[in-house]
Amino acid sequence: MNQRVGIEALSVAVPRRYLALEDLARARTVDPAKFTVGLGLREMAVAGPGEDTVTLAATAGERLLSAYGIELSRIGMLVVGTETGVDHSKAVASYVQGLLGLPKSMRTFDTQHACYGGTAALMAASDWIGSGHADGRAALVICSDIARYGIGTPGEPTQGGGAVAMLVSDRPELLALDRGVSGVYSTDIHDFWRPIGQREARVDGHYSIDCYLDAVAGAYRMWLERATRAGLVPANGLASDALARIAYHVPFCKMARKAHAQLRRVELEGQPGHPASVDEAASVVEERAAAASFEAQVAPSLLVPSRVGNTYTASLYFALASLLHADANALAGKRIGLFSYGSGCTSEFFSGVVGDHASAAIERAGIRDVLEQRQRIDVAQYERIMTMPPDTQPMNELRGPFAFRGFEDQRRRYRRLAAV
Ligand code: HMG
Repeated sequence: MNQRVGIEALSVAVPRRYLALEDLARARTVDPAKFTVGLGLREMAVAGPGEDTVTLAATAGERLLSAYGIELSRIGMLVVGTETGVDHSKAVASYVQGLLGLPKSMRTFDTQHACYGGTAALMAASDWIGSGHADGRAALVICSDIARYGIGTPGEPTQGGGAVAMLVSDRPELLALDRGVSGVYSTDIHDFWRPIGQREARVDGHYSIDCYLDAVAGAYRMWLERATRAGLVPANGLASDALARIAYHVPFCKMARKAHAQLRRVELEGQPGHPASVDEAASVVEERAAAASFEAQVAPSLLVPSRVGNTYTASLYFALASLLHADANALAGKRIGLFSYGSGCTSEFFSGVVGDHASAAIERAGIRDVLEQRQRIDVAQYERIMTMPPDTQPMNELRGPFAFRGFEDQRRRYRRLAAV
């Protein structure tokens, strides 16, 4: 396979406030264990006045540029993956380009397909670089979203928000992608959607879980076939054993556990002494083996997602950030798998090799500090924020680096408040 392409640098941004899921459970008279054990969540990010998809994206982008010392002239493309954009026409990428002062000689656009939009952006950027059209330049890919289902809905504990910025280049310090070996699976369904003009998502919750699991099976089968042909995994034995870790899209952490069990069942299909289909493969022994491999292969990727909640397009990349933050030293030179799911639906299973110096590189993202600087709010404060009209501006809290500051002549305006 051609040129090395992948993720050179990564930074994250989260809203300033969060709600503990135990507090939410008590307020809803639900056993807290349902949210903390049943869904696997600890905290959920709450975007407040002045914070939106643009400010989160710009904050993650600015953090990346300053923490990794990236020269702006290196960047020739900016792609923002989002499903919670702020305008039907003007791209979030345009606002971010302006706020970060990026060069004019670049391509900027947004990508949308529910939570898959971030992966669409990553793949567009990596194809641009791999094709040679980038001519040595890099792409800034930012995934940014705020997940809202509404007060009192079953989806309420699975809300969240945040952004992940990634520099994609031919110097993949963090993760070199196995280009051309993806497995994909798409189908036309209504598992989750958000009609034009609505702030809250509509979702057929339990059906959406089944759709996600069908997509894991479909995309992983195709990846397996292609990865085996490319010699990335052994022809015999469990292919997932050749993946040191697997990061999944994380609408809530228990979903990654379900996804991993599904992936293991797919691998056992047709193996001697095992059932011929996924549906028949859920024997107790296999579930136990899947649970053991989940702790080793998946759990480290869930530390950050369990504290920010669903971040839609950014979710898989928060899982990747979590994994590298926890384990990059041990993963140097090893192959990992990634599964991206976007309702509606489309999905992709892909893989890559962690860089030898990924541990030092991810340190620069300061992920622990980003989480620690947040403020815990109570349920009354959370509900007040949730019931504010769209585009409410901050009253007196002028903490930055960027804030939405209202409309002027029908144009959305942002303010730079401080350095990151
Ligand atoms: P629910 O119906 O309220 O919850 O909503 P439940 O009754 O299914 O319980 C959840 C889990 O908690 C179950 O575990 C219970 O057993 C357990 P499971 O059986 O599934 O393993 N439980 C307990 N555990 C310990 N102690 C207790 C207790 N009580 C129950 N006392 C649901 C859950 C996820 C459906 C809801 O939150 C929802 O609708 N969320 C939004 C949809 C969603 O996240 N779907 C995921 C797949 S689709 C996707 O990922 C795409 C998406 O990100 C959007 C995009 O692409 O843009 C959503």
